[in-house]
Order: sequence, then C-alpha cells, then structure tokens
Amino acid sequence: MARSDIRFLLGFEPIALNDVDPNQTVLDWLRESMALTGTKEGCAEGDCGACTVVLADVRHGELLYKPVNACIVFLPQLDGRQLITVEHLKGEAGEAHPVQQAMVDHHGSQCGFCTPGFVQALFAFSKQRSASDSLPTRADICNALQGNLCRCTGYRPILAASDALHTGPDDVFDVRKSQTIAALEKLDTTTPLVIQNRGRSYRAPISLEELATAIQEQPTATLLAGSTDVGLWVTKQHRTQDQLIDMTRVPELSRIEKAGDALRIGAACTYQDAHAVIAQAWPDFGELIRRIGGAQVRAMGTIGGNVANGSPIGDTMPALIALGSTILLRRGKQQRRLPLEDFYLDYRKTALQPGEFVVDIDIPTSNLELRCYKISKRLDQDISAVLGAFALAFEADQTVKDLRIAFGGMAAVPKRAINTERAMIGKPWNMATIKAGQAALAKELAPISDMRASASYRLTVAQNLLMKAFIETTAPETATRVLDVS
Ligand SMILES: Cc1cc2nc3c(=O)[nH]c(=O)nc-3n(C[C@H](O)[C@H](O)[C@H](O)COP(=O)(O)OP(=O)(O)OC[C@H]3O[C@@H](n4cnc5c(N)ncnc54)[C@H](O)[C@@H]3O)c2cc1C
Ligand code: FES
Ligand code: FES
Repeated sequence: MARSDIRFLLGFEPIALNDVDPNQTVLDWLRESMALTGTKEGCAEGDCGACTVVLADVRHGELLYKPVNACIVFLPQLDGRQLITVEHLKGEAGEAHPVQQAMVDHHGSQCGFCTPGFVQALFAFSKQRSASDSLPTRADICNALQGNLCRCTGYRPILAASDALHTGPDDVFDVRKSQTIAALEKLDTTTPLVIQNRGRSYRAPISLEELATAIQEQPTATLLAGSTDVGLWVTKQHRTQDQLIDMTRVPELSRIEKAGDALRIGAACTYQDAHAVIAQAWPDFGELIRRIGGAQVRAMGTIGGNVANGSPIGDTMPALIALGSTILLRRGKQQRRLPLEDFYLDYRKTALQPGEFVVDIDIPTSNLELRCYKISKRLDQDISAVLGAFALAFEADQTVKDLRIAFGGMAAVPKRAINTERAMIGKPWNMATIKAGQAALAKELAPISDMRASASYRLTVAQNLLMKAFIETTAPETATRVLDVS
C-alpha cells in the first residue's frame, strides 16, 4: 500500500498534507501557505543561505540535524522529518535560543535578510556536536557558514557570536528530544509515497526492486536525490518536473561499505555522510568534498547525483576516475558495472539508458596516492574552472609505476589524460619527466574559454597542477630545489 499524503513535524507540530504540488519548494510553502516569513528568499538557487532551514531525521535512535536550502527542496522531501525554521527556535518561555542570543550579544544580527539563515546554519552546527567533542575551531565554524553570504561583509560579529557558542545549555530541542523521536517514528516512513496532483507525480519507493520497477514504468521521469541540481531547473530555469522519482528512501542507496578491495558508496549517499570516510582514505578528496557548495548543499547533495548529472565541471568525477572507480547501473533486474570514465560519452551525455539508474560507485582502495586540486575564483562555495586529479604509485627506485590523471573543466566531459600518463609511466619521477608530461598535456587537452576561465589559463593551470603534484610527492629537499629553479 502506498501513501499519498506527506507527513512531517513543523517544529513540534505534526502536519499531514494532501494534494501537494510535487514542484512546490519548502520555501514557497513556508512563506505563502504558512506565513512563516522568517525564512527568506535571496537567490532561489542554493547559493546565499538566506532560506536555510533545518531538517532532523531519526538515525540509530538519535536525531540527526542538517541545514538545507529551503529554496531548492521540494515539499514531498519533508516526509518523515522534522522541519525547523527560525520561528521554532525560541524556548518554552519564549526566550531567544542561545544561538540567537549570541548573535544579539555580539552585534551579529545585522540585516533581516541574512540573519535568519546564519542563525539556522549555526543552530544546525551546534546540534551536530556532542558534549564530548573538542571545541570547534575557527575553521570548523567557517565551514558551517560557507553556504551563508552576508552582502554587507559583516562577518566579524557573526564569527564572534559563533565563538561564543562553544558551550551552551540544553535548548528546547534537547528537552523535547524523546518526544520528537517518538513523534517522528509514528510518521510511517516505511510506506512508499505516490503523489499525483495537477498532472504531476512524485514517487518515493522504499526498496531497490520497487525503485527499479518505478523507473521502468516511467522511463522519462526525473530521478531525484538531493535536488541540489534538479531544484534549480525548477526555480531558475522554470522547467517544471512533471514526473519525479525520489531515490533517497531506498536504504541500500545510502550505504557506505567495504566491498572487497573497494569502498562502495551508495548513489544516494550525501556528501555530509561520505565526507569522513573518504577524507580518511584520501585526504585531498576529503578537502575537495569540503569545498563542494556549502554545508546546506553537502547535507542534501549526493555523489551519485554529481556523477549522473554529468557536468564537465562536476567536482567528484576527476578524483573518482583517477582512482579507477567503477559505477553500477541497473535497469529492471539487469545490472552492469562500467569504469566511470566510460560513462561519459559527450557534453552532458552519459551511457545511462532509459529506465536505468546508478546504484553505487566502487572506489578501489589500492595503494595509489591521490593528489587533487580544485581551482576556482573563490575558495569556498564556487564552481571549478579546472580540477586536476593525479593518482600515483612508485617503484622502490622512484620510477613511476602507475599514474592516472583526470581533469574536470578541460573537455566536454570529465576526462583522463591517457597520452600524458603513457608519456610518464616507467620514467623516473623527476623534473624531466614532469616537463615531458606538461608538453603531453598541451597536445592532449583542448580546453574551451568561457566565463570561468580562458582556454590558455586552463591549460597553464593544468600543467602547473602536475608540477604541484610532483612537488608535493617529492622529498622536501628536491622540492625546494625545484621551486628555486622556477
Ligand atoms: C549552491 C550550489 C553549489 C554547488 N557547488 C558545487 C560544487 O562546488 N561542485 C560540484 O561538483 N557541484 C556543485 N553543485 C551541484 C550539485 O550540488 C552537485 O552536482 C550534487 O552532487 C548533485 O547531487 P544531488 O543529489 O543534489 O542531485 P539531484 O539534483 O537530485 O540530481 C542531479 C541529476 O542526477 C540524476 N540522478 C541523481 N541520482 C541518480 C541516480 N542514482 N541514478 C541516475 N540519475 C541520478 C538526476 O535525475 C539529475 O539529472 C552545487 C549546487 C548548488 C545549488
Ligand atoms: S534563497 Fe539563496 S540559498 Fe535559498
Ligand atoms: S547581514 Fe545581511 S547583508 Fe550582511
């Protein structure tokens, strides 16, 4: 039996909605239907954080809080969750939440547009920490606020307010924790959702089999994971999505597990969930994920969505390709696994067939050392102009045993530089080999000029990134000599 109403907690109040428009955003619903106007619209594309709300899910008997951009989350994605807006933060006696009070005390409450979003992002951050965690560093706080822009550049008082939050008393959410968990568990998320309204449909199956069947029945439907790409199609490009199939309720798709000699990442696994495991195995890859969007985008956005979307400037693919990752595709009961590099056929054209979907991505946990670098105009919350990933292994005598190079932003698809690899494998890892590699890159890559960078800038950067990988993987004395020369 499927359900057609969506059920969630708004603050602490249970809500059941029938006849939901699957394309309506949480932001529009809050402001237009509920008159909860504390949540603001700045950009409507997930960039500014003015619309930040917090979602809480029950996981392993605990509440897991995440900040999300209400402007690009569709209403049915709330099903089974607690939605917390800035209006819900006050305490039992109406007092300001400790986060709000800290903002007032440190003059961090500057304009009405950005402040609710900053408060919500800080609130989510404070709820993600436990009493036993060491004090957050300034870098931790900046990460939590990466997705919130203040146009008057008044970040200093906001950071001062964040510093003041190092220790905080229990808030209303701690006091009501067990009631909230009990209320969420009553919402029945084990039933598939099937919504039909205004000529649009939204299906959220709960098993892999049901998902495969749903996608075969509606092969032209838009598959939905975190909606950090799809949401913008609706809000910015005004392309309504008449058939949506939400993949995020299928437990297998959110798993991260060891699978033989690989780390298996379920396609609907979010950046937030995958970050720690990936960062431990490949620190540069962890840093790359830390720079994807802001905390709100990483809380919803998935690695599977990045890979399937197939943008030539998607950030995870060069790193995944350099590490030799494979991708499992499924249509009905049929499955096939391909090297990720073979998935990309042309500009935004992938090997995905109608009715097919991505199940997981296997990243070999070989001895390849990964270096990867994202080059963008801003360090945080920006799209790459070039992304270079270099996976390396050396013989005992420092000749190159294995080398896999992949770039984003250098072609119509995320692409390996195979000729360059061939020019360098078996050679000593020294300056002459790097120079030969740089020359090979110039022959092999044909970047385009666009608003992010010119073709010549991109090529120079790609060559310099090879040099950077060399310097970083070379003994400090040699690296210093190299730097002296250049
Ligand atoms: C403010 C902002 C900042 C961003 N910054 C970055 C950035 O720094 N780097 C970057 O690379 N990207 C960035 N993005 C883009 C986006 O966040 C990523 O591409 C993200 O990984 C998409 O994942 P998702 O789960 O949200 O995908 P969705 O939006 O749900 O889906 C994206 C596409 O993938 C398809 N899809 C999803 N899952 C599957 C599946 N399992 N099988 C088949 N098809 C599937 C969907 O049908 C859709 O075509 C940013 C986006 C925003 C809004
Ligand atoms: S309105 Fe700017 S992120 Fe949502
Ligand atoms: S706080 Fe809104 S512009 Fe700075």
